[in-house]
Amino acid sequence: MSNREILRRMADVLKPYIRSLLIAMVAMIVVGGFNALQAYMVKPLLDEIFFNKNGSLLSLLPLGVVVVFVVKGVFYFLYTYLLEKVGLGVIRDLRHAVYAHINTLSLSYFHKTPTGKIISRIINDVNLLQRSVSYALIQLLRDLCSVAGLLGVIFYMDWRLALISLAFIPLSVGPIVFFGRRFRKISVVYQDNIGEATSNLHETIGGARIVKAFSMEKEEVQRFAGKLQEIMDTMLLDTKNRALSHPLTECIGGFGMAFIIWFGGREVLNGHSTPGTFMSFLTALILLYEPIKGVSKINSTFQQGAAAAGRIFGLLDIEPEIQERLDAVTLPPFEREIVLKDVTFCYEPNRPVLQCLNLRLSRGEILAIVGPSGSGKTTLANLIPRFYDVTEGSLKIDDHEIRDLTLHSLRSQIALVTQQTILFNDTVRNNIAYGRKSCTEEDVHQAAKAAFAYEFIKDLPQGFDTVIGESGSRLSGGQQQRVSIARAILKDAPILILDEATSSLDTESEREVQRALENLMQNRTTIIIAHRLSTVKNADRIIVLKDGHLVEEGTHESLLALQGEYHALHRLQFSHAQEPDKMVEAHA
Ligand SMILES: Nc1ncnc2c1ncn2[C@@H]1O[C@H](COP(=O)(O)OP(=O)(O)OP(=O)(O)O)[C@@H](O)[C@H]1O
Ligand SMILES: [Mg+2]
Repeated sequence: MSNREILRRMADVLKPYIRSLLIAMVAMIVVGGFNALQAYMVKPLLDEIFFNKNGSLLSLLPLGVVVVFVVKGVFYFLYTYLLEKVGLGVIRDLRHAVYAHINTLSLSYFHKTPTGKIISRIINDVNLLQRSVSYALIQLLRDLCSVAGLLGVIFYMDWRLALISLAFIPLSVGPIVFFGRRFRKISVVYQDNIGEATSNLHETIGGARIVKAFSMEKEEVQRFAGKLQEIMDTMLLDTKNRALSHPLTECIGGFGMAFIIWFGGREVLNGHSTPGTFMSFLTALILLYEPIKGVSKINSTFQQGAAAAGRIFGLLDIEPEIQERLDAVTLPPFEREIVLKDVTFCYEPNRPVLQCLNLRLSRGEILAIVGPSGSGKTTLANLIPRFYDVTEGSLKIDDHEIRDLTLHSLRSQIALVTQQTILFNDTVRNNIAYGRKSCTEEDVHQAAKAAFAYEFIKDLPQGFDTVIGESGSRLSGGQQQRVSIARAILKDAPILILDEATSSLDTESEREVQRALENLMQNRTTIIIAHRLSTVKNADRIIVLKDGHLVEEGTHESLLALQGEYHALHRLQFSHAQEPDKMVEAHA
């Protein structure tokens, strides 16, 4: 993204604050003007008071100084406060926009992008950008105003000398541009480093149990230490450049100053100028140094900010893969059937995970999907709520192509229990009632009872108010599953997708939950994915997936009679034990 484009978009971000910015700008012009006035006042001080011994001015001038400082102070407060307020507002707005945008992105984005990287965009990049914006607004504008005022003074005092001084400016701009480019490059590397480190932390802290179980603490610490070193090296490079850019600009300024003292001093000595004029000129020139330095520092901060802004706007520009059409229609309550016709699906181009699938699922039917691990069961289930779009073929619900529907109307008719239970660090109640704003305590209890979760929830230290830890880590695997089943039950949607929903339950609880699910499945259309064949035995229809192909279809009995894949899976599971309770998971 070009700097120009970035500035244009920043202008959009700043638009709501235009009033504060204008007031602040006026305040800054006043402050800049008063800075110039300070320099100007040196002339009467020297020429009138010291050389012409003007006594009445001596009583006026100190008063003037007091007024100058007081007025400057008031306006300084005004613009500092206003601009800081704008900066904070911008941070809030951008974080809001980025988070809102991320929420519109498709699942594929989250599968491809490390969490740490996304978090780094919202936290670090926005911070960096805000710093640049605040600095740019506060320093740049103030400094520019001061520069303008002080330039006015030097031109007023001695325009020839002023022109000579200006000749040095292009000389000092050279290094500013040069270092600016470097700062920007370094900033990109730095933010990448930070993003990686954040990802790293996120994974290893979240996965502390595995790290410990595999005794990888030392390696992980080393890996992180490596990242820290990279961060430090990058920062050091940044510091080196900064430390270099400062004296370089200063030296160039020094050369200029030396020449001006020599030239201007000569003018005073041969009577072309007064000491007051020259001193006032010199004061203005010295006062110019700070704001000019400020302007040069602004550049590096701007470069950093531009890099951060580039990343933020880049993220904001990512289009969700799954998009609602502009003329999307609302799916009426599900009535008849879900139809998959010649569905092929690829995550990566030309590597189909599902191939030419044909399937018809009538309302009220219970369809079970079985098949070896990696055969595409979860993938198939993900197509129905349109987490992914089919690559080829069509997927219709009641004759509506699901691409033509609003996502909300589609997804609100589907309740889903995922293979990896997903719970939030919140109370049990809020986890069950997630997405259901208007449900009563009684509804939550009913759902918990139906999922056979009520008893254990009651026994938790704070019952339904117990906070269950990150990803529900304070519950057992089976308890987590029952909470997510309760959540699906409470959603009360006509289409139910259960992806290994009962896999972490012992046989006893599974039977109970199974019974609950059977109640739940009545009058609902259910897709149930399971490795344990005992779970799917009672389904109306079972399909067997293998390498993305639908290879068999029928009822439990008919499939057994077929003596094919299903039969083989079945034999594998039941050959190790007499009773079906001690089943071995059939992973191919
Ligand atoms: N987000 C993804 N990106 C790329 N490939 C993926 C993605 N998710 C799954 N796959 C691949 O798609 C194939 C099917 O995966 P899927 O999760 O549908 O299998 P499954 O039948 O549900 O297996 P399991 O029984 O182990 O849950 C696998 O080969 C897997 O590697
Ligand atoms: Mg799966």
